Order: sequence, then structure tokens, then C-alpha cells
Amino acid sequence: MEVEGKTDELKDLEADFANLVLLAAAGSSEDLRLLLAKLVRKYRARRPDFAERINQALKSTQTRASGPSVLRRGPTAPEASPLPMDADSRLSLIRVFDDLAGLEAPLLTQGLLKQIQSIVRERRERDKLSAHGIRPTRSAILVGPPGVGKTLSARWIAAQIGKPLWILDLTTVMSSLLGKTGNNLRAVFDHARANEAVLLLDEIDAIAKRRSDESDVGELKRLVTAILQEVDAWPDTGLLLAATNHPELVDPALWRRFDVILTFEQSDPSTIEAAVRRFLGPDAPAYEPFLHLMASSMHGHSLSDVERAIASMRRDAVLNGVAPADLAVSLAAQHIDRLDKPAKLDLALQLARANGMSHNKIMALTGVSRDTIRKYAGPSPIKGRGRKKEG
Ligand SMILES: Nc1ncnc2c1ncn2[C@@H]1O[C@H](COP(=O)(O)OP(=O)(O)O)[C@@H](O)[C@H]1O
Ligand SMILES: [Mg+2]
Repeated sequence: MEVEGKTDELKDLEADFANLVLLAAAGSSEDLRLLLAKLVRKYRARRPDFAERINQALKSTQTRASGPSVLRRGPTAPEASPLPMDADSRLSLIRVFDDLAGLEAPLLTQGLLKQIQSIVRERRERDKLSAHGIRPTRSAILVGPPGVGKTLSARWIAAQIGKPLWILDLTTVMSSLLGKTGNNLRAVFDHARANEAVLLLDEIDAIAKRRSDESDVGELKRLVTAILQEVDAWPDTGLLLAATNHPELVDPALWRRFDVILTFEQSDPSTIEAAVRRFLGPDAPAYEPFLHLMASSMHGHSLSDVERAIASMRRDAVLNGVAPADLAVSLAAQHIDRLDKPAKLDLALQLARANGMSHNKIMALTGVSRDTIRKYAGPSPIKGRGRKKEG
């Protein structure tokens, strides 16, 4: 029975230990302290020495609160206290991006880039502005279709200001914000304010989308009100960003509170070409003759789609030894309806030079006449003869 008793106590200890590990791994020293305090009370009667050791540990985490703690990411860690967590799920409510200097500028239209750069500049020269009694831009809302670089631009802005970006993604945290009368939301804002962070309320239309769900209406109203108050109370020292793909769903009262509106458009052809080049990375020189064709194939796509397509081509090249010309041609063939005229000619000539397809077939695919193909690429070497491969 002595053995039995020990087993139970061991199980108990194991459970406590597992909880500690979870909280430590999550970097949540506040929650960790709460648990330690509970353990001190729990073990005080049965194991006074053990309880005292925990108590000492608890005290030391308290005194370290103003300096670096073992639970944080080292002395350069930006957050001065643990990130807010959802009390039930134990999941962190925010994602942190700490890009600092290691992020390339997003590929945007000149006008938008200028707007963004002036927000950054106002932050950097805040003292100069405040000497004249002028406040910097405190908040901005980023609007545009998915995958055009809203989140990326928020990261870049934060990096330029030398602050980490904290993202509260409203699509993923709605359930933990609802039913808690805005407590979780306040925790996030309090925390971001205290750390002078750049806070991004991502997919902010998620608040509106839920409106259809009748049972949530009262709670949602409280949540919107809470956000309005937080935006109003946002200090000059921090930068508050919000992003949405659905501006029409954003509460007008909320919309009005943002100082600046940053409008992201679908990328133009030259931006797409620059993106193709960027995403090809060190492989770019090998694809140089096909850049226009590839970019043209991706016309009307978001840069996020472009990135995915290029990544898949590069994998194909490495794993299956597919040549750049063939990859470019097959990308173009998949998006034939998007190609502009020069790109169609490009594609036709690439196909003709590859000698894999009759001029008739190339004409059917690209709409470029056989005469034109012959004029630029010379006579078809496979006319009337066996074909190497079917188009
Ligand atoms: N303007 C851009 N410049 C460079 N890369 C981009 C751009 N837009 C999208 N991307 C690429 O696509 C990814 C997803 O973009 P993201 O910023 O999440 O889009 P959004 O937030 O607008 O939906 C980025 O991480 C980046 O790799
Ligand atoms: Mg986004």
C-alpha cells in the first residue's frame, strides 16, 4: 500500500509537472506564476520543504519581472511580459513577427509604397513632430483582396520602425473573444500599449461576418464597442493597424476611426514580373528569357499565388530535372487565356523552337498564325514527320 500511495502521488506530481512544462513552453510566465502559487498551497501541508522551494522559485520570477527571464526569448526579446492567452484554450491570442531588418520591402505600387514610407518616417521622426505639437499617424487600415501583401506590409512597417509586429487575427480568435465581455481583447490591447508595439487587427471584418448568428448579437455589439474604445484610446507611442478583404463589412463607426486608409490593388504586370524574379531567387538568371512569359501567365493573380506557382516550378526543376523553358511553357499553357499578345507570341516561339509541336498545333493553342511563327522561328522541322511528343 506504501507503493500504491507513492504511485498516486507520483501521478499527481507528473500531472503538475506536465502543466508546468506546457506553460513554460508557451512562455507564459504570468500563468506559470499562478500555477506555482497553487502548487505552494497544495504541497505546503504534505511537503513543506518542496513547497518552500517552489515558493522561492515563484518569488524569483516576480523579482525578475523587470529584467530578462528564463521564460522569455533572451535579452533582445521584445515583450516585457508574457503574451496574452485565452484562459480556456491556453492558446496565445496573438502571433508575433519579429522581422527587424531581415525583410525585403513588399512589391507595391509607387503611391502605396510612398504612403507606407511616410507612416514609417513619422514614427522615426516623432520627436520632431511633437516639438511642433503634431501627432504622428496612429492608425491605418489596409484594404485589398487576399494575397496582395497586407500582412506582409504590416510586418515590413513594424520592421522599419524597429518593433515586433503583434497580430491579433480576428478570424481565429473570435470564439475566445466572445463570451468574455472583451476581457481577452482588452488584455491584448493593454499589453500592446504597454510595449509600444505595432498591433495588427487582421481580418477585422470577421467581427461583422458573425453578425448573422443571432445568438451572438449582444456579445458582438459589446465587442465592437470595446474595439472602438480601444482604437480611440490608442496612444501616439504605438501604431495600430487593421487589415480586411471586405471593407464593405467593416462597421462605419470603426472605419472612421482609422487615420489612414491604405488601398492594395491587384498587382500590375511589371510588379508581377518583379515578383517572379524575386521568388525565383538564385534561379532567376536561368529563367531570364522566360520572365515576361511567366509574368504574363500570372496576370490577374495575387503575388501570393505567384509565389506558390514559382515555388512549385523550382521544386519540379530540382526533383524532376525539368528545364526552365519547359516549366515556363507549361505554366503559360495552363494560363493561356491570361496571356497578352506579346506573351502569346513568346509562347508560340518557345514551343516552335522546342521542336515538339507542329505549327498547326501551336497556332491552335496560342492563336498566333503559322506565318508569324515561321517568320520568327523558321520553318517547322517536324512538318509531316513523326512528332517527338504530343502537345
Ligand atoms: N506585395 C507583395 N510583395 C511581395 N510579396 C508578396 C506581396 N503580396 C504577397 N506576397 C507574398 O505572398 C505572401 C502572402 O501575402 P500576405 O501579406 O499574407 O497577403 P494578404 O495579407 O494581403 O492576404 C507573402 O508572405 C509574400 O510572400
Ligand atoms: Mg493577411
